[in-house]
Amino acid sequence: MKSFNHSLLGPVLCVFGSLVLASCSPPEDDVAEVSDVAGNYNLTLNVKEIMAYVLEPASDILWDSGGWVLDASGYEELYPTTDDGWNYVRAQAAVVAESGNLLALTGRAVDNDAWMIYAKGLSEAGLLAMTAAEAQNEEDFFQAGAQIYSVCTACHQAYNPDILSKFSE
Ligand code: HEC
Repeated sequence: MKSFNHSLLGPVLCVFGSLVLASCSPPEDDVAEVSDVAGNYNLTLNVKEIMAYVLEPASDILWDSGGWVLDASGYEELYPTTDDGWNYVRAQAAVVAESGNLLALTGRAVDNDAWMIYAKGLSEAGLLAMTAAEAQNEEDFFQAGAQIYSVCTACHQAYNPDILSKFSE
């Protein structure tokens, strides 16, 4: 069952390789090329829905899991205290990291400029949070949460400043 037919794999890779090469040649018409690619994704959810149903719930869990709160009974530590707890926040960090890609898809990206920088920044900050959660490193996790927050805020500032007031409530 496990044996792999290497003699078949060679030609298959060659064919695949030449397909990849063909698609790498410079496009004659950028617009047509881009819309072909967009046809491969389901873009039913718009940016607002990605924010409300994917990104915001995941990042809220991260922010609720970092640092301390002062309540009537004193300081309460918010960081996860079990492996399961850290694994859970790591999964939310993965949602944030991949959301950067969701926002960068053709059909969702608003431009090919600052928007892409923020989308990439979101992925990078999400990956930092994942690494910190994996290491169960509270300080790094806190910093990654702050970095995620600053990317959210910077993109909203640039593309939809009205969100900022909603967001800080
Ligand atoms: C690449 C840019 C970008 C990034 C990064 C980004 N947002 Fe947004 N966000 C937007 C835009 C644009 C809107 C307005 C969408 C609309 O109303 O059509 C929005 C709207 C929202 C809304 C309001 C949704 C609603 O129901 O009206 C929330 C909440 C939100 N974002 C949360 C976040 C959080 C949390 C993060 C970071 C973890 C984040 N956003 C990162 C661009 C971004």
